Amino acid sequence: MSSAGTSDAARVSRRDDAVRAAVEQGLIAPDRPVVALLDVAGIRASAAALHAAFDAVTAPGTPVLHAFAVKATPLVPVLRLLREEGVGAEVASPGELALARAAGIPPGRTVLDSPAKTPAELREALALGVAVNADSPQELDRIDAAVRSAATASPLGIRVNPQVGGGSIEALSTATATSKFGVALRDEGARAWIVRAYADRPWLTRLHAHSGSQGMPLALMTRGVAETYALAEEINRHVGRHQVDTVDIGGGLPVDFTSDAVEPTFARYARLLAEAAPGLFHGRYGLVTEFGRSLLAKHGTVLARVEYTKSAGGRAVAVTHAGVQVATRTVYAPGSWPLRIAAYDAKGRPRTGPDVVQDVAGPACFAGDLLAEGRALPLLEQGDHVAALDTGAYYFAHHYAYNSLARPGVYGYAGDAAGVRFAVVREPQTLDEIVTESGGPHAGSLTGL
Ligand SMILES: Cc1ncc(COP(=O)(O)O)c(C=O)c1O
Repeated sequence: MSSAGTSDAARVSRRDDAVRAAVEQGLIAPDRPVVALLDVAGIRASAAALHAAFDAVTAPGTPVLHAFAVKATPLVPVLRLLREEGVGAEVASPGELALARAAGIPPGRTVLDSPAKTPAELREALALGVAVNADSPQELDRIDAAVRSAATASPLGIRVNPQVGGGSIEALSTATATSKFGVALRDEGARAWIVRAYADRPWLTRLHAHSGSQGMPLALMTRGVAETYALAEEINRHVGRHQVDTVDIGGGLPVDFTSDAVEPTFARYARLLAEAAPGLFHGRYGLVTEFGRSLLAKHGTVLARVEYTKSAGGRAVAVTHAGVQVATRTVYAPGSWPLRIAAYDAKGRPRTGPDVVQDVAGPACFAGDLLAEGRALPLLEQGDHVAALDTGAYYFAHHYAYNSLARPGVYGYAGDAAGVRFAVVREPQTLDEIVTESGGPHAGSLTGL
């Protein structure tokens, strides 16, 4: 077995151990029927693989900041763990910046990238020294004003849209001709405008592009980076000095949701980039990356009890406690976001038995609330458990409050021969919290108006 195969098998074995331990230790129980689990060793290993991938293709001494896209898993202990693994933060809202700060990520290792930054957000970022990529000419005007009124340590740049085209998931394709992100590089006059913008502002030292996420072919992502690098070279030639000193290549490496394999790897992507834009890696440019999904997806599992089973129209249906609240994208767009489901018995052991085509339904009150439709799995029984795999990014950390279903607790796991240990990442939401967040303290406000 290849070393990748060995580490994938080890991850699966850690996950199986964690599921069983979660049942045995009562993390999941009849009155706590859904829980989210994070594999701490797996997260550390992915961070190490990311560092190694870029170390292998960059000249010694090249400054490389790997900034985790906080939107993927906005949980403070996860950000702290990544900080310990030498990973910073890419943030896209005041909330995400607050999470990064709460995790202790220094402003100098934080990048702000949202498309709708308010003047106050910009002022805060510049006062802190957080790197900012302007998304539009109007935003650059605001940054101009801020830079004029106060000195800043923030590295500043412009986000461009290389317009290399979209991938298989339109909603995540940020390099289409009409994408809302960045300055559209191939639009008439845009390239000249950008070169002039840098020439007029010696403090613009970065260039940023993020060409898309899941569903993007690597060839297009690579072309997006190569075009951004070519633009950096053009700007520097035009101004006659090495003004753009750092290229932020965004994130976007897709994840294989169909198997336990980590494919494509960071190493493969880094090699492809180095082949497509060798000069970017020779040490003249610092690099920033902003990976999210590829760092965390494989390390998260939603585990839910099977409350009931039934049959309808000849179809076996398992009614579980994991649905739209923890797997929103999958439920609303199952074609784009299919998830693998693993079946476990009441004791948390992998369920065996002949495959039966069945639906794995969630708890929400609409017919489409299905984690998987017509899926062949060992026949689930009442009291069993189902695990929605690869849900560590953009799933349980993005709770959807339909039916006022509670946010599940999130627990990290680690283990050795002595057994599996869990740590709280986020407490389960209480009913009191749901009432408070739903206007409970203002119960009489409308009738008294
Ligand atoms: C600017 C930017 N950087 C990074 C990311 C992270 O992408 P991914 O999770 O696919 O790596 C996103 C995702 O939307 C993004 O918009």
